Amino acid sequence: MFENSVVIAGPASVDLARSISHNLNLKIIEPELKIFFDGESKLRIPSVNNKDCIIVQSLYPPPDRHIIQLLMIIHKCKKDHASKITVIIPYMAYARQDKAFLDGEIISIAVLAQLIENFGVDEVITVDIHQEVSLSYFSTKIKNISAIPLLADYIKNNVTLEKSFIISPDAGGIKRAEKFAQLLELPILCLKKKRDRKTGFVSIDENIGMKVDGMNAILIDDMISTGGSIVKACEVLKKQKIGNIIVFCTHAILVDNAFDKIINSGVKEIISTNSIPSICSKVDLSLILSDALVNAN
Ligand code: R5P
Repeated sequence: MFENSVVIAGPASVDLARSISHNLNLKIIEPELKIFFDGESKLRIPSVNNKDCIIVQSLYPPPDRHIIQLLMIIHKCKKDHASKITVIIPYMAYARQDKAFLDGEIISIAVLAQLIENFGVDEVITVDIHQEVSLSYFSTKIKNISAIPLLADYIKNNVTLEKSFIISPDAGGIKRAEKFAQLLELPILCLKKKRDRKTGFVSIDENIGMKVDGMNAILIDDMISTGGSIVKACEVLKKQKIGNIIVFCTHAILVDNAFDKIINSGVKEIISTNSIPSICSKVDLSLILSDALVNAN
């Protein structure tokens, strides 16, 4: 099935690429990377002549650097007449701007989709993209796989679920949270988060519509960036005398000291997948990504 395939480890996802190549028993190419003083990347890759190339590159910060590195690798594969190019993007950057919320805003995910497509990719595989609507901007074949069952398995094996319920910080994440709650057979609560589109300021309605004192909360979000949403959610929940709070997400971007801010706000633990390497990445995506490749073939 993969006789002619090779995995290419993008600089942002070397460990994940190694695990995928190991799972599928495929040869791996780890490009030589140099970052110049001005921030530009230089990559060196041996020839991939006529191979089926599987490139793994997550687009976490610095996103623009990781995007250009991805495009450089695709360009090289094209130049070497790769017979097929599959790109695994565990974390898809720019997916939060999936529409013009304010007049004149550019839909950045549409730009990224067009870039990737114009470089001649055959298939894209990503994980828990912010909203499914982003997929519609890709005319290339794209598969969005869910890490929610893996996160639920982690909880079942590592967390006591007594008196717990699942919380989505906002209505945008409700489908994900519902699936999570269903897998864990736990009740669910959705907070009412608002973000000022101009200032980015986040607020959460303190009237949560449920008695939670003495209960434990399992917050689930697709991503944590500055941690602002989770910290706000904790403030609101603490006022309601909630017990323990633990946080799950697929993508732990964790910029601006987010980890410390969240822990200092009273969260016991933050658990994420390894779409972005961090101290929180305890759930390995390599098996579901390998399966996605097998099913695509
Ligand atoms: C927003 O809709 C997302 O699902 C996340 O809640 C948000 O991007 C998290 O960002 P931050 O950690 O900066 O609040």
